Amino acid sequence: MKFCTALCNRHDMTPTYFLDSFLCFVCCLAISGSPLLSAQETKTERPWLDKSAPLDQRVDSLLAEMALEEKVGQLTQSNGIGGEATGNTKNLVADSALYELIRSGQLGSILNEINVTTVNEFQRLAVEESRLGIPLIIGRDVIHGFRTIFPLPLGQAATWNPEMVEQACAIAAREARSAGVGWTFAPMVDIARDPRWGRIAESFGEDPYLASSLSAASVRGYQGDDLSNSDSIAACVKHFAGYGAAEGGRDYNATMISPSTMRNVYLPPFQAAVDAGVATLMCGFHDVNGIPMSVHKQLLSNVLRGEWGFEGFVVSDWDSIFETIEHGSSKDERAAALAAAQAGVNMEMSSPCYRKNLTELVTSGQVSETTVDELVKPILRVKFQLGLFEQPYTEPDAAKILLSQEHLDAARKVARQSVVMLKNESSVLPLDKTILKKIAIIGPLADAKRDQLGTWIPDGKEADSQTPLAAIRESAKNNEIEVLYASGLVDDLDRSTQGFAEAVATAEQADIVVLIVGERANISGEARSRATLDLPGAQNELVSTLAKVGKPIILIVQAGRPLTIGKQIEAVDAVLYSFHAGTMAGPALADLLWGIESPSGKLPVTFPKSVGQIPLYYNHVNTGRPPRPYDFAKDKRVDDDFDVELGYNSNYIDVGPYPLFPFGYGLSYSTFTYGDVELSATKLRSGEILAVRVPVSNSGKVAADEIVQLYVRDLVGSLTRPVRELKGFRRIQLEPGETSVVEFALPVSDLGFFNNDEERVLEPGEYEIFVGGSSLAPKVGTLEIVE
Ligand code: BGC
Repeated sequence: MKFCTALCNRHDMTPTYFLDSFLCFVCCLAISGSPLLSAQETKTERPWLDKSAPLDQRVDSLLAEMALEEKVGQLTQSNGIGGEATGNTKNLVADSALYELIRSGQLGSILNEINVTTVNEFQRLAVEESRLGIPLIIGRDVIHGFRTIFPLPLGQAATWNPEMVEQACAIAAREARSAGVGWTFAPMVDIARDPRWGRIAESFGEDPYLASSLSAASVRGYQGDDLSNSDSIAACVKHFAGYGAAEGGRDYNATMISPSTMRNVYLPPFQAAVDAGVATLMCGFHDVNGIPMSVHKQLLSNVLRGEWGFEGFVVSDWDSIFETIEHGSSKDERAAALAAAQAGVNMEMSSPCYRKNLTELVTSGQVSETTVDELVKPILRVKFQLGLFEQPYTEPDAAKILLSQEHLDAARKVARQSVVMLKNESSVLPLDKTILKKIAIIGPLADAKRDQLGTWIPDGKEADSQTPLAAIRESAKNNEIEVLYASGLVDDLDRSTQGFAEAVATAEQADIVVLIVGERANISGEARSRATLDLPGAQNELVSTLAKVGKPIILIVQAGRPLTIGKQIEAVDAVLYSFHAGTMAGPALADLLWGIESPSGKLPVTFPKSVGQIPLYYNHVNTGRPPRPYDFAKDKRVDDDFDVELGYNSNYIDVGPYPLFPFGYGLSYSTFTYGDVELSATKLRSGEILAVRVPVSNSGKVAADEIVQLYVRDLVGSLTRPVRELKGFRRIQLEPGETSVVEFALPVSDLGFFNNDEERVLEPGEYEIFVGGSSLAPKVGTLEIVE
């Protein structure tokens, strides 16, 4: 390779490397338009480096130069040397071999390496020492923030605020790119209807419409307008498809999903990401109806690429190609590589099936080289789009932006909107600073720094976390309110009641108790399924013991999933439910307690009363024997309350069929009044749009946000249809006394659905329309679809 010789002739990691590079860059640019090569070489020997050439032409010209082994190399991803290897195969290669693999052009990507010096050294080997100089793409799980941690995705979903989710992802991208990360394995958009499944924490909840809207928002946030921007990273929508349906909520378990359910429930958030231009997609570990997703040709090739026109690349999950052997779907690594390649998986994460077998599979004629070419092309395309050929290196000092005040402020805002108020008897909240003299803060999570952050935060730091105890202390200071503290339990799993006496004594001295309980961060997330959903340890006993003291209790629950806390809710005066809310969890909760902002989150997932009711989700189909209609205000049974007179209906005789809290539910410090809803038509045809207009007023005393929700029900269908389906939502801000008219434009085509022949149909007939502040919204009219 010929370098610019005017100012420098080397591109290695000397102490003056960046200065040299900069001078060289300017010089080369002046000469040729490429920082690394002369103009003539750019155009002739390496035409793919010509930035002005069309993308496909750049890809094709590079591909034409690649040897088969180099192509297979692009399909191969290895763990970095800083990351932890898990799973069955440990990792593709030993650390020492990694360098050689890169140098020989036989590695396309690295994950879990965020040491900037190491990342730059890897890139140098790839760009300057490998034959064709193809840069690596560096991947990392940036799931809900990089260093500034935002609420768990489930908490972000509780905001029902796509703009805010987009902003959170953009901040995560900016921070990650500054550390050399070009690609995140997010968003996870698996529909999750089972809170036993630990990965519900990483999801946007149970509803395809809400999840689709947040899926697209996340992709926009991570990727920005242009992947080559210095603050954009490639997104990876995962885990295609249906992973959340794991039987029994047990992680990695098999799924049985009918064709119509796959299309109507599990696929829409993936399609939304593809429509938003997502660069990559990850297939799941699980099998769907007997076929592991890593070899699922129908979904990966026919649907994803054929029907949806996805042009990015598919990465396997960690070892998931290899694990098709354990599934009993592939006989050995060679068969696994063959099946995955034929299904359309472009890159293998961690395990070595492609690297060890794909070259031979081509030379023996079992896989055509054209198939390999088609797998390589989208990977090269994304690398070109990221601008890696022009700028493979990361400036080591760019990390200055981590945890900037702007990022912390944004995290605090998202955290505030992610909290859902489930109860506020006698308006005990917000706390009144003018009356209170002493507050008791009690509970194992009140000062648990790490647990505020939640699962999947490889780059989050415990030290950055601001706990509720610290934040309440800080905010009480100016008003001379005394804050007392007793944890009651050593941690959330503690079963000993030894600390209860101190907790009771602390409560007795105070005017009010703020009791902070829940799940630690690492009992939700991957491989963290639970068979029970009670507060762990002796936390239930702590709640009931403190309830006997007779002081008002505000219960704050921090968890990665819905918990079965009906009895605990009965025992206290107010409840704020917070999915682990991130670095700024404490300040955000303090803001809500003091009424600086009203709680405004709404549940993105149904809360069951009991584990035995699961799966329990609002958009279920009806049975021929539905239970008596749901009356949320009266339905107070928690458990052990047998009613054998319910009749031969679809019921549970002990807890009833209905949830503790329905999807879309959440209270505010204010109240909202919905006026008469106007529908623009009572009859429409395919292609037309229904306008739904509703005046919503803030009838309370404080400014607050409401999330206005629109649901429909298709009364008669060729398949049984859900009793309700979300079709629109809007977050609005209202001052006291203010009214806003919310307008939804509902295209009639949105009322169509997929049948079991996987055809999308729009069926004539009656559709009920519901508008309100939760999935219990009242019926406001009927629309007839005519042919
Ligand atoms: C998870 C993925 C993750 C990958 C890489 C796997 O265990 O299922 O969601 O992106 O590891 O860390």
